[in-house]
Amino acid sequence: MGFIKPHAVLVPFPAQGHINPMMQLAQKLVEDGFIVTFVNTDFNHARIFQANNMAKSGLSTDEVEICHNIRLVSISDGLAPQDSRTDFAKLTNSMENCMGHSFHKLIEEINEKEQHNVTCLIVDINVACWSLDIAKQYHIPSAAICPASAATYATFYNIPNLVSAGLLPSNGVFKEQKMVDYSLPSMPPIHCTRFAWMVGSEEDQEILFHYTLRNIESVRDIESVICNTFLDLEATILNSFPEQDLVCPVGPLIPSQFFNGNISQSNTGLIATGFWAEELQCLEWLDKQSPESVIYVSFGSLVILNERQFEEFALGLEATQRPFLWVVRNDLLDGTTTVFPSGFTERIKDRGCLVSWAPQLSVLSHPSIACFVTHCGWNSTLESISMGVPMICWPYFADQFLNCSYIAEVWKIGLVLKANNNGIMDKLEIETAVERVLSDEDGVEIRKRVRKLKKSGRDAVKEGGSSSINYKSFLNATKNS
Ligand code: UDX
Repeated sequence: MGFIKPHAVLVPFPAQGHINPMMQLAQKLVEDGFIVTFVNTDFNHARIFQANNMAKSGLSTDEVEICHNIRLVSISDGLAPQDSRTDFAKLTNSMENCMGHSFHKLIEEINEKEQHNVTCLIVDINVACWSLDIAKQYHIPSAAICPASAATYATFYNIPNLVSAGLLPSNGVFKEQKMVDYSLPSMPPIHCTRFAWMVGSEEDQEILFHYTLRNIESVRDIESVICNTFLDLEATILNSFPEQDLVCPVGPLIPSQFFNGNISQSNTGLIATGFWAEELQCLEWLDKQSPESVIYVSFGSLVILNERQFEEFALGLEATQRPFLWVVRNDLLDGTTTVFPSGFTERIKDRGCLVSWAPQLSVLSHPSIACFVTHCGWNSTLESISMGVPMICWPYFADQFLNCSYIAEVWKIGLVLKANNNGIMDKLEIETAVERVLSDEDGVEIRKRVRKLKKSGRDAVKEGGSSSINYKSFLNATKNS
């Protein structure tokens, strides 16, 4: 009888910052002998296909489905094409109502029609409540991945305890404004409006809080929970989980090719997952800049600025008088078009590079990069640490405030920008933060600390490193269960 490969079905939450690390895990699994079926929503599948010009490269949707030994399949998220996918309360409601059923059908079809039955499910903790039932029903071993920090996971995991201790209201939404010190080890106190579920209206926040709770309940009794982090970065919080619910750090999941210098995604053999086309010419622009001179600015895939915030930020960048590479997504502004301050593009043309989406891993690993102005999404945070780049933080929502506190207060590898009462980041604030990180005494220490963490992160994923050992036991458990 021939050797039958294990077949993992991977399900990310349908957002850029969740699909990227899940795909990084998929590539690792394939290298380790798995067949992977990667389940996107129809909406995101089409978007990725289009953004990455897969059709132009002569591929049909079917061929894309089997490229690089990973099958990309998709199911509906239940929303209409014109509906917003950033209304998370609506999206999670719709997913919970519709996706469980389609996912069930998908697994049944694979098992009925194909040679390779599903041998394990690996789901994002943020989709656990509708995706794991089928694993129980068919006795398919399952695991969950937290694509955010262990601290974020610890917050979710401890919700029931925090509610019982009276530190969180039972619907997750505070009646009064206050700081909450939730007494978890290493966890900085957080303002009550800055928990990860505090997104949208009060009603939305409650929906997201209960959705989070259902997800956490669903992962309590599964075989393993892995996390895209590493032990040295979050040892205190990782060690605070009880024995029966340990969370295994297996990160950074960043492909190791990026640790060896500046390369672009297009020549790594990795499957592109961007919702926007990468503008690779910015790498040539970076080649022409001096070492450690460029400010890289990106606010990830979801941040939206209003016109005043955008204008003042642009003027602040200009005022630094330093070269910069700024990712201005076509939907970064809350209006319909991007309006730069009058004369801005002309004035900065010799030292500014504007793109709508960058090959971020290649950019951060480029020797010309000096610092990263970031919204503190977990992927951006971990990518910056892995490349040893200090951060200037402007968090926007969800887990980003907690990540920001760790960057500034716990690891001390970056500074926080402080907005005025109208939420505008004064241009002087930006100029001063950049100067402090790049030239002052503060900056020297910040750079030293982030480079130390970069080394720890890379050591963790090397043969014999903590994440590598954890990943191997996860792999063995997954293969043999
Ligand atoms: C979201 C949440 O906002 C974040 O807080 C959570 O931790 C994950 O999900 P997002 O806002 O998109 O993610 O930020 P982030 O986590 O930083 O992920 C963005 C990803 O897009 C990163 O992998 C980054 O490398 C990539 N990216 C970003 C690009 O490839 N090019 C760009 O120009 C910008």
